[in-house]
Amino acid sequence: MDAVDLFSLRGKRVLITGSGQGIGLTLARGLGAAGAEIILNDLDPARLDGAIAALRSEGFAVSGRRFDVTSAAEIFTALGDLAGEIDILINNAGIHRRAPLEAMPTETWQTVIDTNLTSAFLVTRAVVPGMLRRSTGKIINLCSLNSEISRPTIANYAAAKGGLKMLTRAMAVEWAGRGVQANAIAPGYMRTAMTDVLTIDPIWDRTICARTPAGRWGEPRELVGAAVFLASRASDFVSGQILTVDGGLLAAL
Ligand SMILES: NC(=O)c1ccc[n+]([C@@H]2O[C@H](COP(=O)([O-])OP(=O)(O)OC[C@H]3O[C@@H](n4cnc5c(N)ncnc54)[C@H](O)[C@@H]3O)[C@@H](O)[C@H]2O)c1
Repeated sequence: MDAVDLFSLRGKRVLITGSGQGIGLTLARGLGAAGAEIILNDLDPARLDGAIAALRSEGFAVSGRRFDVTSAAEIFTALGDLAGEIDILINNAGIHRRAPLEAMPTETWQTVIDTNLTSAFLVTRAVVPGMLRRSTGKIINLCSLNSEISRPTIANYAAAKGGLKMLTRAMAVEWAGRGVQANAIAPGYMRTAMTDVLTIDPIWDRTICARTPAGRWGEPRELVGAAVFLASRASDFVSGQILTVDGGLLAAL
């Protein structure tokens, strides 16, 4: 098998949650370019329709399912039989709701835990039976540097992403013997709508660039290589790993 075949996703169907914009949409484009059929998902119907139209106009095989990743009932209804026919699942949907921990409303805590952690359990539970039946499948969870390190006002996010790291390992040990690999990508600071609030703030912008050994923000397209690797046969013996793509930030003091 040559290197191109090893990384080819031809004949594979990928579901990416929260892929109406940002990292999810960029990964959809990248996996589509590697040959996969793409199923987009988002909570926001207009965003989802726009993303489907954009990828279709670029020649990709793409469709979409609108559902809220925190709702088992919506996941079940929206996916229907398709749930059993997914080869690659990318649990990407996520949100930030910042607040000082001592004053964080319960709802702010719970929404972030539900959207960034429980969602991966719910969507995977719907999709993995088909993978286990076929003895093949790839699950990729979007972790974060905050799976390892935190800062003030993001305790809900850090707890969720830390939990997602351990959920990834739990998935890996549960299913590695049955042909399904679960791994995660932990992006550093990437330029998306989620980080707008930081990129437009000159102090934060300088802080991130100074703290990142590469000296700059990452772009979502720089996550595509990691995603194609973890989605392809090239990673068939890779399980339970958190692949950090951060310009060296986590390696630096
Ligand atoms: N941008 C970064 O620097 C960065 C760094 C580390 C990790 N991440 C993670 O990567 C993932 C994608 O981040 P992004 O920067 O592209 O974010 P983004 O805000 O640009 O996009 C997230 C998408 O998820 C959708 N979404 C939110 N809640 C949903 C729900 N309940 N059901 C379905 N869809 C929902 C949103 O509508 C949006 O389109 C997230 O899990 C995030 O935590 C991002």
